[in-house]
Amino acid sequence: MRITTHSTTADFDAALPAQRRRPARRPPTGEDPLLRAAYRLCLRTTQVHDPGIFALIQLMPAVLRPPCWALWAAASVLDDLADQRDAQQAEREARVQAWTQALQCDLAAGTSTDPVRRALVDTALRWHLDLSSLQGAVTSTLDDVNDRRFADWAEWRAWCEALVPWVDQVRHLFEQAGAPMTLRLDRQQDYKRFIDGAQLTDILTDLSADLTQGLLLLPQEALDAFPGAEDDLRQGSWSPATAALVRELTGLARRWVTRPAMTRGMHPGAATVLDTAACLMRAQLDAVDAAGHTLLQRAPRPSLVTRTRILVPARLRSGLAWSLTPFTAAGPRQPAVTVREPSPADDANLRPPPAHLDGARPPRIAADRMPAHVAVIMDGNGRWAEQRGLPRPEGHRAGNAAAHEMVYGALEIGLRHLTLYAFSTENWKRDTEEITTILEAIRRDLDEGPIRNLDVRQRWLGHPDKLPAELVQALLREERRTRNRTGLTLTVCINYGGRDEITRTAAALAQATRAGAIDPHLIGEDDFARHLPHPDMPDVDLLWRTGNEQRTSNFLPWHTTYAELYFTPDHWPDVDRRDLWQAITEYSRRQRRHGGATHGMRGRS
Ligand code: IPE
Ligand code: IPE
Ligand code: MG
Repeated sequence: MRITTHSTTADFDAALPAQRRRPARRPPTGEDPLLRAAYRLCLRTTQVHDPGIFALIQLMPAVLRPPCWALWAAASVLDDLADQRDAQQAEREARVQAWTQALQCDLAAGTSTDPVRRALVDTALRWHLDLSSLQGAVTSTLDDVNDRRFADWAEWRAWCEALVPWVDQVRHLFEQAGAPMTLRLDRQQDYKRFIDGAQLTDILTDLSADLTQGLLLLPQEALDAFPGAEDDLRQGSWSPATAALVRELTGLARRWVTRPAMTRGMHPGAATVLDTAACLMRAQLDAVDAAGHTLLQRAPRPSLVTRTRILVPARLRSGLAWSLTPFTAAGPRQPAVTVREPSPADDANLRPPPAHLDGARPPRIAADRMPAHVAVIMDGNGRWAEQRGLPRPEGHRAGNAAAHEMVYGALEIGLRHLTLYAFSTENWKRDTEEITTILEAIRRDLDEGPIRNLDVRQRWLGHPDKLPAELVQALLREERRTRNRTGLTLTVCINYGGRDEITRTAAALAQATRAGAIDPHLIGEDDFARHLPHPDMPDVDLLWRTGNEQRTSNFLPWHTTYAELYFTPDHWPDVDRRDLWQAITEYSRRQRRHGGATHGMRGRS
């Protein structure tokens, strides 16, 4: 559907006040300039890439438009990534996958530095959409990359099925808004056919552009029914065979999109949107039929008069429908931090940490002498193993137990934040086997380790690039699952580099500046801190490194500027919770000045 309609960005502003009416803990879209700019970009992307869809979105109530723009902009970004012919196939696949993986991280973080993902994440959280169902659609995008061919209609339909999750997201939005696009079960087939019809209409419209790229997204079965048509199409020549093939296919698409029973019983506003979609597609198919040989040169469009004849009454009808039969639900809910709520069972099973084998108990530290945040560089695994004649990976396995001990000790002494350096951006220089052991041990621990049922909120700091997808999934899952826990915040740094973090933060800040959210002349330290991946992570009070090395190895440069440094000779697998308590005791005796004078200084203030 690529039918242009007249519309302005003022519609965007019209859409916002409806959201402002809702009470929200998080600032509503209208008050967050970055988010506002992100939605505006999605609006423009939809308008430029898919004017027909844009026209349909205009038929929806104002409050539903921004989430629809976000969904369509995301779909079109993925399409573009898959379609960049300048890159090799593997590179295009990698780009699509990197984008979706970044989306997973952004969903866990609740925001994104990328504007389209920022709007999409906000949409998902605000409207409680489960974007995991879009995975199928992403696979279909990758099929595009693979220059897909279809033997028959069944294969072609299976490919179209992947579009269903995108459309389902829109249906879900309507449901959330209290105007369900409920489909009777016996109408499911109609719905699928309707989507097939939309896809076929699109393919016929874009025939010339696709052929230029060597693509012919039609089933072989259909092509073979008109001997010679495929060769003629591929050579760009219009013949009686191609004309007959196109006529046959437009007829088919027309029947598929004409599903009057599908909208029966629906909210009249929602029904108007679908009925108008069908009208626009039929007009588009008429234009394909009328195009003749020019179909192989450019995408045909219905005339302005035709579009106006469809859209003007549709806007009147939909406006009336939405006002006469208003929503039954209040609209979007307050944005949550993540898409899926942790199950109450997760928190019902919380246990205290197991006692130390020798029965050791934590020292008493005065509250004003306790560090709020201890960060640990867990070093010496390799040497520990080498000293015992073991392969280095054995040292990492042994180091895992020490990491658990740190968590037990932190809970027992009442530490608020513990951050562990598990894998640096520089550690990729090591042997593949060692890297695999380290990352695999972390993943196993996330899946079945003893931290899972402690009162620990787990977080991950680092970048997904190059990490195994299962590890990233497990990290995000645990982050979601434990997010309401209040005992200890455990941040594990994996594929983390301090310079990488600073560079990415600077990029995010630059983007905010470009979007007009921040005046570059007025950028302060607070602005920078707000753009860090975990803006709420406090400064490190105590930085402890084991393994007899006295350097910081690219660890938390922003947060450790005033950290007390503490170095110990033991290799990491040899430490236990008593060493953490010792480190905290040592910290509690230190004088901290933060640049002030010694006189009268106490504690961290
Ligand atoms: C620290 O131990 C763990 C990681 C860097 C993953 P090392 O593996 O660096 O141990 P050493 O320094 O070689 O002994
Ligand atoms: C720092 O240890 C990284 C982690 C503990 C994860 P390294 O052993 O990699 O540091 P360098 O290379 O000795 O500085
Ligand atoms: Mg080391």
